[in-house]
Amino acid sequence: MRECLGTFATGVAIITAQAQGGGFVGLTANSFNSLSLTPPLVLWSLGTRSANLEAFLCASHFSVNVLSAAQVELARRFSRQGANRFAGVPLHEGLGGAPLIDGAIGWFECETQAHSRQGDHVLFIGEVRRCARAPGNGLVFHHGSYRVADAAPPEQSA
Ligand SMILES: Cc1cc2nc3c(=O)[nH]c(=O)nc-3n(C[C@H](O)[C@H](O)[C@H](O)COP(=O)(O)O)c2cc1C
Repeated sequence: MRECLGTFATGVAIITAQAQGGGFVGLTANSFNSLSLTPPLVLWSLGTRSANLEAFLCASHFSVNVLSAAQVELARRFSRQGANRFAGVPLHEGLGGAPLIDGAIGWFECETQAHSRQGDHVLFIGEVRRCARAPGNGLVFHHGSYRVADAAPPEQSA
C-alpha cells in the first residue's frame, strides 16, 4: 500500500507548533491537504508514535510551511529522529507561537479545530486564520523521493 500511495505526488511541508514549555516542535509532512474553503479548513495526520504527538494535541495552533525546492535539506532534517531540527533555521513566531519558516513558498497559520485518532495516525483539522505565499518552485515527493516539478507540455491546438 505504501508503494501505491507513492504514485500520488505531493508537496512537502514542515508543520510546526509551540510546545507547552515554550520550545518549538515540527516535522516534515506530506499528508497536508485542503479540506474546505468556507470555512477555510485544512487537514494533516500525525503518527501516534511521534515524539511530538503530545505537543500538537495540546497546542492551540499549528503552522504549515510549504517548502520550496531549495529547502530539501530542511525536509530531510525535519524527518530525522534526534536531529536538532530548529538549529539555525530562520523563522519568526506566528499565531499561537507556531514558527513560520523563512524561504517557504506558502504559510498557513491554523487554529486547531479538531483531532481524531484514526488507525495509527491522529487526524488534525485546522481553521486557517492567516495565509500567505511567495514565488518559487515547490518541493515534491513522489515514489519515495524528493523531486522538483517541471511544467507540463503546453496544450496542443487542434
Ligand atoms: C516526505 C515525508 C513526508 C512525511 N509525512 C508525514 C506525515 O504526514 N505525518 C507524519 O506523522 N509523519 C510524516 N513523515 C515522518 C516525519 O517527518 C518524522 O520522520 C516522524 O514524525 C518522526 O519524527 P517525530 O517522532 O519527531 O515526529 C514524513 C516523512 C517524509 C520524509
